[in-house]
This record gives sequence, C-alpha cells and structure tokens, in this order.
Amino acid sequence: MALNADAKKTLLRKIPHGVFICGVAEGNEVNGFTASWVTQGSFEPPLVVMAVRADSTSNGMIQRSGRFSLNVLSADQKDLAAVFFKPQKGVGGRFDAAPYQLGELGLPILNDALGAVECELVGQVAHGDHTVFVGEVKSAVLHHDGAALELSSTGWQYGG
Ligand SMILES: Cc1cc2nc3c(=O)[nH]c(=O)nc-3n(C[C@H](O)[C@H](O)[C@H](O)COP(=O)(O)O)c2cc1C
Repeated sequence: MALNADAKKTLLRKIPHGVFICGVAEGNEVNGFTASWVTQGSFEPPLVVMAVRADSTSNGMIQRSGRFSLNVLSADQKDLAAVFFKPQKGVGGRFDAAPYQLGELGLPILNDALGAVECELVGQVAHGDHTVFVGEVKSAVLHHDGAALELSSTGWQYGG
C-alpha cells in the first residue's frame, strides 16, 4: 500500500509543538540547537522525549555524554530561537547571543529563558533521519513563569 505523502504531511504538521533550546556538553565544549520535536514521556520517573537529527553536531554529543538540557523559551524569544538553528562559526558559538550558566549536570541553562531541565539519557531509538532520545529529568530551574514560545506562533514549519 503506497503512503499518501500529501495527507501524511498535512496531518503530521497538525501536531502541536513548543520551541526549545537543547543544550549539550562534552568535555569543555558546549553546544545548543533549536528543538521542537519534544514531549513528556512519563510522570514517574519524569521523562522527556526529543528527536534529534542524526547528522547534527549535538546528536553525537548527546550519545557520547549521555545527557542534555532543555531550555523553555518565553513567547517573545523567537529571535533567540532563530539564532540556534542557523549555522555557527564554531561549536557553541550560538551562545555568544545568549548568556548561560552550567546546571547541576554541567549543561547549558540560558539565563533569559523561562527555565530549563537537565536530563540523563535513559534510552534511544535510532531509526530514520532523527534519533529519538529519552531523558530522565534530574534537575529543574525556573527563572520566571510565563507563556512559552509555540511553533504555531512563529510561522516556521518543522515536521510533515
Ligand atoms: C523550527 C525548527 C525546529 C527544529 N526542531 C528540531 C528538532 O526537534 N530536532 C532537531 O534535531 N533539529 C531541529 N531543528 C534543526 C536544528 O535546530 C538544526 O539542525 C541545528 O543546526 C542543529 O545544530 P547542531 O548541528 O549544532 O547540533 C529545528 C529547526 C527549526 C527551524
């Protein structure tokens, strides 16, 4: 049976997404990228699920370090999200536009985001052009509560 590609694309683009900055760290190096394929996966233990491009710099860093952070952007931080999906001069260069501190797990936590969670990698599925990572939330920092940036408000598409 042939897949109806147009229907598949239209329907999958209906899945609502947030827009996050995933932080990674390996040795003395940090990196970060915009991620929208993110959801919660369990209450107890608290799990999050994130799909990461197989050919990205951060994918390998997550595999090797076994951890990642997820920074939750506020509704007015679209410009910052744009910085974190564009090509950069060197690994971690995107953080020039965004001050951060390292959290309890040594992962980048943006000073100006609503907050961030740090996760330990507990599972993954590598099948297709993204790897589905499952992380257990080990730390959480809330800078201030507020409305979060949603993909639907940006006019961008990532999915289908
Ligand atoms: C709106 C939007 C959402 C994105 N969501 C994801 C995502 O969920 N997972 C992913 O791997 N890349 C996603 N990307 C692409 C990455 O941000 C981009 O490939 C980035 O350059 C990867 O950085 P790195 O190679 O330094 O790790 C998204 C891009 C855009 C524009």
